[in-house]
Amino acid sequence: MNKTINGFSKRSKAEKIQWLGETFTDNPAAFTAELGSWQYPDASMQRVIDGFTENAVANFALPYSIAPNFVINGKTYAVPMVIEESSVVAAASSAAKFWRERGGFHAEILGTVKLGQVHFRWPGKPERLRQIFPEIKTALLTSADDLTANMILRGGGIQDIELIDFESVEPGYFQLRVSFQTCDSMGANFVNSILERFADRLEAFFTIHPGLSDLERDVEVIMSILSNYTPNCVVRAWVECPIASFSELALKQGMDANALAERFAMAVRIAQIDPYRATTHNKGIYNGIDAVVLATGNDFRAIEACGHTYASRDGQYRSLSACTVANGQFKFELEIPLAMGTVGGLTALHPLARRSLELLGHPSAEELMCITACVGLAQNFGAVRSLITTGIQQGHMKMHLTNILNHLGATEEEAAAAQFYFQNQTVSFSAARAFLKREMKDEL
Ligand code: MEV
Repeated sequence: MNKTINGFSKRSKAEKIQWLGETFTDNPAAFTAELGSWQYPDASMQRVIDGFTENAVANFALPYSIAPNFVINGKTYAVPMVIEESSVVAAASSAAKFWRERGGFHAEILGTVKLGQVHFRWPGKPERLRQIFPEIKTALLTSADDLTANMILRGGGIQDIELIDFESVEPGYFQLRVSFQTCDSMGANFVNSILERFADRLEAFFTIHPGLSDLERDVEVIMSILSNYTPNCVVRAWVECPIASFSELALKQGMDANALAERFAMAVRIAQIDPYRATTHNKGIYNGIDAVVLATGNDFRAIEACGHTYASRDGQYRSLSACTVANGQFKFELEIPLAMGTVGGLTALHPLARRSLELLGHPSAEELMCITACVGLAQNFGAVRSLITTGIQQGHMKMHLTNILNHLGATEEEAAAAQFYFQNQTVSFSAARAFLKREMKDEL
């Protein structure tokens, strides 16, 4: 059977679903019915959601959860999180509560610079390019006046243009590295529009500038695009408390507070030393970060890509968080680049992203960066605390059991009995089924 298609995007949604069902499933009617059930009942809202992308045939549901009790810089937040992994929201909430009783989270913005690049080839001498660069820079800056006017009124705009010379690694390759302030917007469209204007103006400059040889007029723009690596758009979040305040937690593990704090710091140092552990450690941080980024309509791929590059900035991939235990004090901190926005893009279009921002008190981009970093730190704290004490399986398995019980259609009474029974038993699908006395066929 031919499974390829021309003009898929031009078909209506119903036609797309019908073709998919007939071509790729055993039961087209069931497929059509199921996808039909994953449409938003309000057609105008469904059109908005479909408009986020192309070839949309249904909505894919993920839980929209809340981690309450986050005290950040003295303000209390109930933080919306969109994530499918069990235990993440529970861990964030538990860490929020733990730190609420110890002064809360603290966060500060270290910078908000966004970056973009125009990559070009030029056959002349680098010294000559450097010599005429001040004139190029003036020409470029004035060429974007119409595009920057509004952003300048809001307090942002183009900050600088640098010329970078890659002559030693790729002869003839140069780069304009442009820095921007984009205020409360993530700024991708603003940055990209300006870069493309710069690319055009750069070519025009070389065509008309007096005194250049024919060879020197041969500039070739390769591409113009923002860089998702924003090492100067960074937030620092931290928590601190006297080590003695870990006593209760430590006691449950049969340890003293000092030993617990030292073990925690060691676990973080391991993630500084070893990239294998660092990857998992940072993944735990992004469990929290991505969930807030998604809930607020921001771009989690951009945020992740940037963070992992930042984690490798000294040449080795390392933990994004650090821990110090000294003079009776425990301090745990996270320094992370977060290019986020609270206006424009999906933040304005997605109804739940709008609600998330409302729940967070309509934060500025800087405030949202602070909140998000604190959730990342909370998540990291929760994961490492579990790892160095009980292990994470205990919490995970409880959530896993809930999913299994739901899948097997357990009643409320059965579920309560199973949760009690499995407190001291190993959770598995077959053990849960045996407990519920369900037949194999229930699973199918
Ligand atoms: C699981 O999603 C995240 C953890 O593996 C993070 C970590 O190991 O630090 C628990």
